[in-house]
Amino acid sequence: MNIPVITIDGPTASGKGTVAQILAGKLHFHYLDSGALYRLTALSVMRSGINPDDTGQIASIASSLPCHFEKQRIFLEKEEVTDAIRTEAIGNMASKIAAFPVVRRALINLQTGFRKAPGLVADGRDMGTVVFPDAELKIFLTASVDVRAERRYKQLLEKGISDNMDSLRRDLIERDRRDTERKEAPLVPAVDAVTLDSSVMSIDETVERIFRLFVQKS
Ligand code: C5P
Repeated sequence: MNIPVITIDGPTASGKGTVAQILAGKLHFHYLDSGALYRLTALSVMRSGINPDDTGQIASIASSLPCHFEKQRIFLEKEEVTDAIRTEAIGNMASKIAAFPVVRRALINLQTGFRKAPGLVADGRDMGTVVFPDAELKIFLTASVDVRAERRYKQLLEKGISDNMDSLRRDLIERDRRDTERKEAPLVPAVDAVTLDSSVMSIDETVERIFRLFVQKS
């Protein structure tokens, strides 16, 4: 039997992570935060001090990431790095190394390994286009730049990280540009994706909408 997958792709801070986690809980499905894998790779690269342009070494780190997930907590070997990977510096490094095709390929098996019964909700940039092209339901979640910058600002504050709103907004626009314009697996909606705008819907409404779309399909 084919294990169902719901993919939720979209730009930074579109709300996809929150929506995907709630939806996975509602359906009792597994959850894949693919951005965390790029962030974990970025953290390992920064710590190891290797040249951030050495694609071969970065891919080798990515292909054997010693990470594991326990509910909402993320570990690199035995160390919890749930918050450490959420800084803007790591986000920017993640987006830089995510443009290297060899790094993207090195993370494919780790991602597809999350597809386990009874199902999976996966969020990222290329879940519906590259990693799970046969997904049951593909969502492309967007939101305006202002809404996203404000959300990211609040998320960081809640984690005790303060940042400047203007530089945050600039980083966000730059990261979107890099994610959208890269050659390999750019951030684009899959041809069969349903596009939703979370600037005009609450988190609960967005979850409900996707839930209903999934029930209609299955
Ligand atoms: O979603 P998040 O902000 O945690 O992702 C960090 C970075 O990882 C993104 O800016 C993007 O460049 C990259 N990424 C990606 N493909 C994914 C998930 C994340 O390229 N599927």
